[in-house]
Order: sequence, then structure tokens, then C-alpha cells
Amino acid sequence: MVLRDVGRRVRVFPDLAAASDALAAGLVRRAAAAVRLRGRFRLVISGGKTPLGLYAALAGAYRDRMPWAATDLFFADERCVAPRSVLSNYGAAWRSFLSRVPIPRSRLHRMQGELRPIGKAARVYAEIVGSVPRPGRGAEPLFDLVLLGIGPDGHTASLFPGQPSLREQRATVVAVPRSGQAPFVPRLTLTPPALSSSRDVWFLVAGADKVDALRATFAPVRRGGTAPPAALVRPPGPATWFLDREAARALRPGRAAAPS
Ligand code: 6PG
Repeated sequence: MVLRDVGRRVRVFPDLAAASDALAAGLVRRAAAAVRLRGRFRLVISGGKTPLGLYAALAGAYRDRMPWAATDLFFADERCVAPRSVLSNYGAAWRSFLSRVPIPRSRLHRMQGELRPIGKAARVYAEIVGSVPRPGRGAEPLFDLVLLGIGPDGHTASLFPGQPSLREQRATVVAVPRSGQAPFVPRLTLTPPALSSSRDVWFLVAGADKVDALRATFAPVRRGGTAPPAALVRPPGPATWFLDREAARALRPGRAAAPS
């Protein structure tokens, strides 16, 4: 099932495995087109458990269809821990697929969660993001495809409800001293304008515990209210939401959680 409105496109699948497979198939098509047209594919991935099946598919059935040698891979956010920590988003991505695909090390752009102070880590990553060549320079979005998830509180990447990072207009990367969700370690995150600077933004969301967050994200913002973090990611075209059937209960009429 595909639903559309101005700001989003929603695709519903029987389960997370089917949603992940469709997303992987779409991702390799986008990657091939980007490399054909612009010579490289700039992909942003996020943390969390939901995309682990997708990542396994990218290292499995889809491995040989990905233009790894021309893919620049970035992270939407990171926990401020060492890369080998079980809490590290890079560590999880490395274990689940990056160690098994032929992506050149020079194109693997990880956030340095171990760097201190964390403000410096944010500045270093902003420089890395800014230094990857873009064919059209200023007019060109930073990324081709940003993959995101959503937390039960509506956070996306490490943009948590009520935090100053939501109002960031200029920086591409900020440090987040206090996490709004477990694990409660400081974070680094791409900002709403950076995440929105992408040809495509795709969310992968599964499970009944995400229904309230999705309803709040899809609801119109009340006058004087604040949009939930995921609703602040506004690419030039519609964002696409890959949902399993459980999460898609958010599309049925129901009480939306009040925006803060
Ligand atoms: C992180 C994330 C975060 C994640 C959501 C969903 O570092 O935790 O990047 O934004 O995408 O919390 O996480 P789950 O997929 O585990 O529900």
C-alpha cells in the first residue's frame, strides 16, 4: 500500500523483513542512478536496532548490486563512546555489514565518538561532511539518501524532543551533552537542516511501540506548538516512510500525542 501527501509518502509492509527488503532494493537502485549521473553515492545511515536486518541484506543478497567503490557512507548520529563499544552506532554497523562489504576505508566517514571535548568531535565531523566533493557545490544537497529511524518519544538521529539541537539552523553537526533516551551517553548528531539536505530521506519504522510517535510526527503542528524531531527533517521532495503493519496503525484515526 502506498499513500501520498505533500510532505510524505508511506509504504506499508506485512513485517519488518519485507519493509527492509523493499528498502534495500530501492537503495541499490538509487545508488546505481547516483553513480551513473554524478559519479558517487552519498548515503547516511542511522543507529538503532530496526535497520540491522536491512544492513544484513546489504551485506548479503544485495551486496554485489551496490556500487561500494563509489559510495560515501556517513552517520546520522553517534554515541560518545569508543568505536568498539557495544553502544557505538559505527561499531554496530561495522559488525552487521561494513566489515563484510568492499567499501573503501577512505569513503567510510564515521563520527569520532571517542574524541573529547565532544564539541570538537562535532566540528571535526562537520568538516568531513563539508569536504566530500559535491558536483554542483552550493546548489547540490549534502547527501543523496538519508536513512532514519524514530524512537518511541519521536526522536530521530540524536535529535530529542525539547532540546536546543532542534532549533539549529546553521551547523551541520552538533554535540548533544544529554541524551533524551537510553543509552544515556552524550551524542553527536546531524542537525535538521543537514538531514534535510538530501535528495531522498527514508524512514524505516516497525513495531507497536512507535505508533504514538508516528501519530505525533504525522499530525499538523498546532499554533504555537513545536514539531516533533522527525517532522523537522524536510527534504525538498516528500520523505518516504517504510512501515510494518504494526507501526502503520498510526495511519488509522486515533488520538495524536500532543506536540510539546
Ligand atoms: C540511535 C539512533 C536513533 C534510532 C531510534 C530508533 O543512535 O539510537 O540513530 O535515532 O534510529 O532510536 O531505534 P530503534 O530502531 O532501536 O528503535
